[in-house]
Amino acid sequence: MPLAFGGNKVRNLEFWLGQALERDCDLLVIAGAAASNQVRLTAAAAARLGLECLVLYAGPDSSLTHSNRLLTEMMGARIQSLGNVDEADREKLARQVVADQAAVGRRPYLVGDPVVGALGYVRAAQELHEQAGAAGLDLRHIILPGSMGITEAGMILGAAMLDLPWAFHLISVEYEAADLEVRIKTILASLCRLTEFSPMHDMLGRVRIHMDQLGAGYGRPTKASMQASYLFAQLEALVLEQTYVAKTFSGLLSCVARGDIPGDEAACIVHTGGTPAIFGPGVAGSPESVSPTG
Ligand SMILES: Cc1ncc(COP(=O)(O)O)c(C=O)c1O
Repeated sequence: MPLAFGGNKVRNLEFWLGQALERDCDLLVIAGAAASNQVRLTAAAAARLGLECLVLYAGPDSSLTHSNRLLTEMMGARIQSLGNVDEADREKLARQVVADQAAVGRRPYLVGDPVVGALGYVRAAQELHEQAGAAGLDLRHIILPGSMGITEAGMILGAAMLDLPWAFHLISVEYEAADLEVRIKTILASLCRLTEFSPMHDMLGRVRIHMDQLGAGYGRPTKASMQASYLFAQLEALVLEQTYVAKTFSGLLSCVARGDIPGDEAACIVHTGGTPAIFGPGVAGSPESVSPTG
């Protein structure tokens, strides 16, 4: 969390920027939406390292005021707009910009490879295991947001490498379960090739995907997620934004209520950051302000 409000991308960036520095790159290129935490933290890491950062924003102009974008600009990133393109076109355009920059003599690095980024969470699983051991905890359950699969695949592989008895509870905040599973499997297969690791068991055998917190979809708060953010703020002074973290904490509560996580088994929930979003538009209000269908 030491970098510009922090978040899970810091551990990904450790490996992305490691690769960029190893290749002697002088320009970081990153594409994303104005609300992107990954973009904000890339701009932050670039500022710390004294590297130039070129941000390619995609999406409607109405999102220009998002707090993550303000922070990205404040940290000195150069901004270019791609217009309102979808994820596939955004990636294509980003590769084109990288090729154009290389053609004029720059040494650009495109930030975001999911497999390289996931290595940060392989190590996180190992660190968590050591910390749990030092605290005398027999950790059994890990709760994470289910999203692009990078954090999830990294931790699942890290646990498999150490043969840990961890059950993973992925609280989907973005995709249908089958889609999320394919994303995780794809990253895991590449991670196994990269690390030359052959799992002894099906690594998804101990993974459960929970769909009960998604509500009306990605980035749409639910009554339960709003309640979770108020509850954890009041009990633990924890700040939970609505897109990823509040839904994940709400998922923890419902896993405990259903008995998926028994009260006498140690569990760890990973707070993945995203904090500036609580200052962004469209998130003010109380649990009562969310419509029953929200
Ligand atoms: C705050 C926050 N939590 C969770 C995630 C999801 O992480 P992953 O893409 O590794 O699934 C993101 C990704 O953007 C994020 O910004």
